[in-house]
Amino acid sequence: MSFRIIGTGSAVPSKIITNDDLSEMMDTNDEWIRTRVGVAERRIAVTESTADLALEAAEKALEMSGVSADSIDLILVATITPDRICPTTAGTVQARLGASCPAFDISSACSGFLFALETAAGFFARGTVKRALVIGAERISRIIDWNDRSTAVIFGDGAGAAVLETGDGCLCSEICTIGGDEVIRIPAFGGTSPFTEIEKEDPVIFMEGQETFKFAVGAFVNHIHSMAEKAGISLDDIDHIVPHQANERIIRMAARRLRMPDEKFVMNIDRCGNTAAASVPIALDELNRSGKIKPGDLVAMTAFGGGLSSAGCLIRWG
Ligand code: UT7
Repeated sequence: MSFRIIGTGSAVPSKIITNDDLSEMMDTNDEWIRTRVGVAERRIAVTESTADLALEAAEKALEMSGVSADSIDLILVATITPDRICPTTAGTVQARLGASCPAFDISSACSGFLFALETAAGFFARGTVKRALVIGAERISRIIDWNDRSTAVIFGDGAGAAVLETGDGCLCSEICTIGGDEVIRIPAFGGTSPFTEIEKEDPVIFMEGQETFKFAVGAFVNHIHSMAEKAGISLDDIDHIVPHQANERIIRMAARRLRMPDEKFVMNIDRCGNTAAASVPIALDELNRSGKIKPGDLVAMTAFGGGLSSAGCLIRWG
C-alpha cells in the first residue's frame, strides 16, 4: 500500500524583490535574469522564519484536506535552511500545529521534498502511518552570498506542503545521489571549537552553474522516462509535469528532449525563483488550486540539485 495526496498548501514571504531591485545591489540587469534564468521577481523573507512558512503551508494543506492536525501520524520537513538544527523544523511545526506524531527533517537540497515523499512511502508500505504531512520549506536567502551575482539572482524563499493518506496514488518514486562537493556545496556553520584545525568556510551557496545545468537536464529527462517505463505508461499519458523551478531554460530543454508540449509543464519560476526544497510542493499546490488538474490525472514530479541529488515521483491524482 502506498499513499494518495488529499490536500496541498503553500506560503511565500510578503516582500517582493524584483530584478531591478537586485540591479541596484549588484552588477546585473532584468534582461539577463529573465532570459538566462526566467525569474522576474522572487519573495524574500524579512520577518518570516523557515518554520513560519512551513506552518502556513501546512495549515492550508490541512484545511484543504479537511483533516485535523491530531490525526496526522508523521510530519516530515525537507529543508537545507532550518532555523535551528535542534529542534528540527518538523518538530517546531508539530508543536505549533498541536500534533503529537513523530516529526523530523530531511536534507537533500532541491530534491528534498521528493526524498521526503519516498521516505513517507516507506512508512505507508509498513502500515505504520495512515496520514502524513510532508513539507518543503526554505529561507534560502539566509545562505546566499549577496555579492555573488551568479547565485543571488536565482533563489527565493517559500514553503509548500502536502497531506498524504493511505491509498494507491503513488505509482512510482525514485531517488538518486551522486556524492561530491565539486559542483554545489554549502558549508555548515564552522563552529566554535578552539581545538579544530579544519579551515572555516563561509556558510553560503557555491554552485558551478553550467555543470549543474547539464546534470539537471539529464536527470530530469531520465527520471521521466524511467518512471513512465516502470509504471507501464507512455509519456503521452502524463497530464502534468511538476518540475523543480531551477531555470526556465532547463524546463524548456527537458520538454524538447521529451517531445512533450510546454503546456504540460507547471512553471512559476518567474514569480518565485528557485525555492530549493519548497519549489516542487509550491508548484504542485499552484497546479492543484488552478483547477487544471482532475481526478485520475497523471502527475509527474521531478527535482535535481545539490548533493548532487535528483528524484522523481509519479502520482495518479485523486
Ligand atoms: O536548484 C539547484 C539546481 N540549480 C540549477 O539547476 C542551476 C543550473 N544552472 C543555471 O541555471 C545557469 O548555469 C545559471 C543561471 C546559474 C548561470 O547561467 P549561464 O547561462 O550558465 O551563465 P554563465 O555562468 O555561463 O555566465 C555567462 C555570463 C558570464 O559573463 P562572461 O564571462 O561571459 O563575460 C557571467 O559573468 O553571464 C555573466 N553573469 C551575469 N551577468 C549578469 C553571471 N551571472 C550574471 C548576472 N547578471 N546575474
